Amino acid sequence: MAPPSHCHTFNGGAPLPPQNGAISVDTPATAQCARMLDAEEFRRQGHQVVDFIADYLAGLGEYPVHPSVTPGFLRRQLPADAPSRPEPDAFAAALRDVRDIILPGLTHWQSPRHFAHFPASSSTVGALGEALAAGINVVPFTWAASPAATELEMVVIDWLGKALHLPGSLLFAGGGGGTILGTSCEAILCALVAARDRKLAEIGGKRIGDLVVYGSDQTHFAFRKAARIAGIQRDHCREIPTYRDDMFALSPAELRAAMQGDVDAGLVPLFLCATVGTTQTTAVDPIRELCTVAATHGVWVHVDAAYAGSALVCPEFRDVIAGAEAVDSFSMNAHKWLLANNDCCAMWVKTPSALVSALGTEQEYILKDAAADGHDVVDYKDWSTTLTRRFRALKLWLVLRCYGVEGLRCHVRSHVRMAAAFEGMVRADARFELVTPRRFALVCFRLRSPEKYGGEKTANELNRRLLEEVNAASSGPYMSSGKVGGVYMLRCAVGSTLTEERHVRDAWKVVQDRATSLLRKMEIIYSVLVKPRNGRGDTAKAAAGARDDDDSAKKARARQLTVRTTSINGAGCRPAEEEDADGARRQPYGKLAVEDLYAVVVIGEATPVNFSSRRRAK
Ligand SMILES: Cc1ncc(COP(=O)(O)O)c(C=O)c1O
Repeated sequence: MAPPSHCHTFNGGAPLPPQNGAISVDTPATAQCARMLDAEEFRRQGHQVVDFIADYLAGLGEYPVHPSVTPGFLRRQLPADAPSRPEPDAFAAALRDVRDIILPGLTHWQSPRHFAHFPASSSTVGALGEALAAGINVVPFTWAASPAATELEMVVIDWLGKALHLPGSLLFAGGGGGTILGTSCEAILCALVAARDRKLAEIGGKRIGDLVVYGSDQTHFAFRKAARIAGIQRDHCREIPTYRDDMFALSPAELRAAMQGDVDAGLVPLFLCATVGTTQTTAVDPIRELCTVAATHGVWVHVDAAYAGSALVCPEFRDVIAGAEAVDSFSMNAHKWLLANNDCCAMWVKTPSALVSALGTEQEYILKDAAADGHDVVDYKDWSTTLTRRFRALKLWLVLRCYGVEGLRCHVRSHVRMAAAFEGMVRADARFELVTPRRFALVCFRLRSPEKYGGEKTANELNRRLLEEVNAASSGPYMSSGKVGGVYMLRCAVGSTLTEERHVRDAWKVVQDRATSLLRKMEIIYSVLVKPRNGRGDTAKAAAGARDDDDSAKKARARQLTVRTTSINGAGCRPAEEEDADGARRQPYGKLAVEDLYAVVVIGEATPVNFSSRRRAK
């Protein structure tokens, strides 16, 4: 492969001549520096980038959503060191590399066929808002450091809070307030640190080892991470079990019991991280009831609505935060489903002073500005863990302004509608089941494993294989998995801005087709290994012939299958055939666990199976 374009150096690779032993400051490089923030150069490069992105968006549907690359593929193609001097028109050359070697190695989160994880729903306005903020490049750590940026953030966080129907007590207008961070991980950490310091001020700093925090077994790992960073002992992080019958929501009764148990043991309940829209199944913890339990122990309640918070823009989802007036803090990712490109996590707190007490810095002489003296200004550096921060408010403001709250509702509702359609397709196919009923735009489902192949015993393995096959389909959908209550499931999260109904229909067709082929393979192996049969080859051929391929494919399959069954038998695991009462010859493989049959189906595809050693290893 030809080296990437940026391997070329500015002077064609020839070393620059030394000048009387002195370090040379050569003219071409100096000239290059002078153009680093040149308006006309920006215009020229900016047009190239806009064209590039426009072409990317226009062709996005054609990319495989997930690349088939192996670790190290890109590092092998790039030089180990940065170029010491740029090649001529390095920017255009770099864009070519982005097109030719970087894009093919990306997972395309904006693809209309991206149904994995949660969406990174984006918009052109969101992207341009990012560009605008990067171009203006201010650092609004204090009000004085960039007054308009700070005030825009205060305005836009209230706009968003109102649009999401949050209680007034969380907004600046109601005595609370909010900020825009990068991620929910940061938001949960900031809230927890504020809660910790408030509690320690009450009970004494030495008791930090007694503090206990609570979530469910569905709470995002961001919570455990935050607890660790905040100095909470690892074994003081309660993960209360949830159940399928409760749709994996946290039970107030179990929370009460856990807190009481801790109090009885001399510990101090500190913080509850409730979730509205859990990562695996979008479960909704009952906020009102949980707050009542928490209040009896003076526990700070944070609501993590990273994904589902966006849905609150639609009044029909308001009930999922019923009782939120009692929460202490709330966060959601507008970059997940509300068209504000990465990254954009909004966080609100009821008592900003608690946040500022925990995260504020006093020795900031150099940051003081006379203009702010005597005014009650917000210095956002005191609301989070960082000093330097991005002007994210600009992007969110643009998104709200250009699409309007109605536009955002329309965006969310279109995905909810498509997810409902997908859910209907799953329900209509008796081979599948929903793992939990859909609430937002995520459908959690799985293929039922027929009883004769082991039922529940083989279901997880069957679905794991199904997901692999679905994601391997060229120009197919890309989905992800989850495991709740021991049940492995596929997750289809509808949320890409470009997704249309046809993509959802096509995705379901791929799932159905792959399921059909997987079940056929199971049936073939089952018929070869378990069912009464007349002769090995005949059965194999008959089974292969059941596929509706053309003749030559049938023959090839039959040959493969015969070879495969022979090699299984050749591995020494085929005992003598038995004769049934009616004289039909039967192999006693029915005694083998169905997982073994399944392993034969699955592993036999890729590698020769040494069946006897598999069984010995058990
Ligand atoms: C419910 C929930 N909380 C927290 C997070 C973490 O979000 P972030 O990556 O913004 O920290 C996620 C991520 O998907 C999530 O689903």
